[in-house]
Amino acid sequence: MPDDQPPPPLPPGLLDRLASLLGPRGLLTGAGDLAPYLADWRNLYQGRTPCLLRPGTVEELAEAVRLCAAAGLPLVPQGGNTSMVGGATPDESGRQLVVSLARLNRVRDIDPLDMTMTVEAGLVLKAAQEVAAEAGCLFPLSLGAEGTATVGGVLSTNAGGNTTVRYGNARELMLGLEVVLPDGRVWDGLRRLRKDNTGYALRHLFVGAEGTLGFITAAVLRLFPRPRETELGFCAVRDEAAALALFRRFRDRDEGAVRAFEYMSGTGVGFYARHIEGGSVPLPGHDHYVLVDLASSRPEAGLRALMEAVLEEALEAGEVLDATIGESEAQRAALWRIREEHPEAQKREGASVKNDVSVPVSRVPELIRRASEACRALIPGIRPVPFGHMGDGNIHMNLEQPEGMDGAAFLARSHDIMETVNAVVRDLGGSFSAEHGIGRLKTDMMEDWRGGAELDLMRRIKAAIDPQGLMNPGKVLPG
Ligand code: FAD
Ligand code: MLT
Ligand code: ZN
Repeated sequence: MPDDQPPPPLPPGLLDRLASLLGPRGLLTGAGDLAPYLADWRNLYQGRTPCLLRPGTVEELAEAVRLCAAAGLPLVPQGGNTSMVGGATPDESGRQLVVSLARLNRVRDIDPLDMTMTVEAGLVLKAAQEVAAEAGCLFPLSLGAEGTATVGGVLSTNAGGNTTVRYGNARELMLGLEVVLPDGRVWDGLRRLRKDNTGYALRHLFVGAEGTLGFITAAVLRLFPRPRETELGFCAVRDEAAALALFRRFRDRDEGAVRAFEYMSGTGVGFYARHIEGGSVPLPGHDHYVLVDLASSRPEAGLRALMEAVLEEALEAGEVLDATIGESEAQRAALWRIREEHPEAQKREGASVKNDVSVPVSRVPELIRRASEACRALIPGIRPVPFGHMGDGNIHMNLEQPEGMDGAAFLARSHDIMETVNAVVRDLGGSFSAEHGIGRLKTDMMEDWRGGAELDLMRRIKAAIDPQGLMNPGKVLPG
């Protein structure tokens, strides 16, 4: 429906029933109040909604879902609204109700002996990390949006982030879930067991489902020992292959010590220096950089000696051109900031097309080289800005508009650019979506990449759990 048409009216009496169920804090209807929930972080989509539900308890959410299901109203779950693929944004019809989980943010339990914590979906990721730290433990999932993204959001997208190389994706950090199903029933799967082979592992269906199967309301998360020692190296490397060789050197010496291994191009680091306040960069003027983060919970793990020895070897081999080691918490935070602010710096530079892709780790240098060349051939002057999680094969093969080109004209070529990158990714045995998910942005790629039995099974699962098709319609599954 075009934006200038009024949205279809809600069934009579529904708004009043929702208002009395959720109270004044739990139901927003004013245009100003709704605005922040209707656009995505990348400003790709601008949706509409008649109202926003903000339940304060699981029971309130379940009852609201029952009311909406009876009225046949589609629902869009939203956590921190940091999706990179428009997953949490309603469409333009004005029919879809947004449901924010933000008020469901309690810590229900933390057990340092079991090494688990049970938290609600709306808890912000950074707050979850802090709660774990206060109990002397580590919740290791870490990503640039951690100050806003929520536990429900990271589970629903199976987020990866910086520490996948060591701790896995969000899925590997989850033991149990509580879910409000599309008919309003509450499934209590909050078991904190390391072993539980009792039929199909339903909890894993909801992880990565991007809100299309139900609402995650709480989760049991795995905790780990807090590191006693950490070291952070920021290195200028000769090229992509040298970056990978450096990763291998660290892994061969002590695989368990590598907590993150992130690649950045000179272009991306230049954007950081240009656009981010206080964005100074050590070792300027190189084309390729890596950030290597080592951590160990062992006493006297000798990480400084390991860092120095490996960097020295790699310098001698000509792989590392220059390097600096963070000497204090403040310095380490400043070095991490160069990497974490890449998405923001790229946004400020102008129009960009993101390709969140993965390939086998061994093929990362080839991916970066070939995709960059193919995109330069497609649009002369285009600026490749590859960066990201090299240690787990997930590179953000992002492209920035040529200098002086009109941003809209560049974005009109998005499809061609993504196809160009994806052709290389396919050839290297990779995936067109590594960690951000499908959302609304990539549904049209699903048939091509996951068609046949795989997509058929996904559709049947969706129909079995959400027969009315009310959960986050238009996301993940095409058509
Ligand atoms: P939202 O954006 O609100 O929602 C994401 C999806 O999950 C939507 O489909 C939504 O409908 C669904 N959803 C949300 N909550 C629930 C729930 N409780 N139940 C059911 N469905 C739900 N992602 C990475 O994987 N790695 C990164 O390194 C990374 N870095 C980022 C850096 C920046 C600066 C930004 C802006 C984003 C980054 N992202 C990254 C993407 C984003 O942060 C993740 O996808 C994150 O998991 C989304 O969490 P959220 O709470 O904001 O979810
Ligand atoms: C990140 O790792 O910073 C984000 O996932 C990447 C992006 O913005 O493309
Ligand atoms: Zn990422």
